[in-house]
Amino acid sequence: MKRSKTSKSWMNEHVSDIFVRQAQSDGYRSRAAYKLIEANEKFKLLEKGMVVVDLGAAPGSWCQVINNAIGSQGKIFALDLLEMHPIKNVDFIQGDFRDELVLHELENKLNDLKVDLVISDMAPNISGIKTKDQAGIIHLNELALDFAINWMKPNGNFLVKSFIGEQYESFIEAARVVFTRVTTFKPKSSRDRSAEIFIVGQKIKNIEQLNDFGLE
Ligand SMILES: C[S@@+](CC[C@H](N)C(=O)[O-])C[C@H]1O[C@@H](n2cnc3c(N)ncnc32)[C@H](O)[C@@H]1O
Repeated sequence: MKRSKTSKSWMNEHVSDIFVRQAQSDGYRSRAAYKLIEANEKFKLLEKGMVVVDLGAAPGSWCQVINNAIGSQGKIFALDLLEMHPIKNVDFIQGDFRDELVLHELENKLNDLKVDLVISDMAPNISGIKTKDQAGIIHLNELALDFAINWMKPNGNFLVKSFIGEQYESFIEAARVVFTRVTTFKPKSSRDRSAEIFIVGQKIKNIEQLNDFGLE
């Protein structure tokens, strides 16, 4: 089949992208690895022995980065709509995080284990309808935040991908209620044309503080 101009230019961008080439030589499953590496360098999110929940994990490059940092004493619970080839030390669930049954499956796996870090690289399939796409990612952000409130250890941290647009500011406000420090950042490895931005919540507040906002 003859390749269209658009797919040719996508291919050119992909092949010449230094992060794609870097991922290939470093053995990462995707260039997304460098977004988490950068976030970790800046915010010191990962430590040996941590329990991490990775939402929207496929193809698995964040799991690879986490594994390298937390070592064999740590544990990763990962979830995605798509299949993911197994990775050592990763307990994977295939399913939609918006689905209550899938959430319960994850909660059952955790059993009584509390989580040090919740990260989400989930985004809806882009429809091109801005308000729909925006509402879709904010909904995923809110579900991830809700999960963090229920499952995090004291002082736990949070990293989610979002898009700037409607409800973005209210989501940041909600995150500020939950975490002691909230920062946004755009990694160098995030493509310029991508509207994505990452929100980092550090040190979840304690139950008494969250209770004051009716959040527990
Ligand atoms: C950018 S990719 C993640 C890349 C991953 N961080 C890595 O390093 O390999 C986003 C993922 O989010 C997943 N996703 C989107 N919506 C989801 C949902 N509702 N539930 C679970 N996964 C979802 C997609 O299937 C996709 O694999």
